[in-house]
Amino acid sequence: MQGNAYAPYSDYPVGAALEDDQGRLFLGVNVENISFGGTICAERSAVTAMVSAGSRRWRQIAVVTRDGNTPCGMCRQVLAEFADPDALIICASATEETGRYRIGDLLPYAFDATL
Ligand code: THU
Repeated sequence: MQGNAYAPYSDYPVGAALEDDQGRLFLGVNVENISFGGTICAERSAVTAMVSAGSRRWRQIAVVTRDGNTPCGMCRQVLAEFADPDALIICASATEETGRYRIGDLLPYAFDATL
């Protein structure tokens, strides 16, 4: 899943596979940039693919890193925008699942202002 990651600066490839509420699958990888702030994470890459295809809700996402880490804070906020609090995040290393979480648990009290 991380094979298409573009991570020449961190050498930390990340892959994400997201399933929407209709069972459609969307993939994402981290895409880094020499202007580091231009980097997009794998999770947000998968969410933008889903939204670009016209879908608005996801129900589970698998995230693969070398150490099985959890999504960063910015990705948690973006993931929360398009899912119910019980949507599932499955984290894995190359060899094993490292944890299962609900987005509502990974980001309690998400920013959700009435604008
Ligand atoms: N990264 C992700 O793709 N997802 C995360 O949740 C955290 C970090 C990427 C960003 C950067 O390309 C590399 O991992 C190291 O931070």
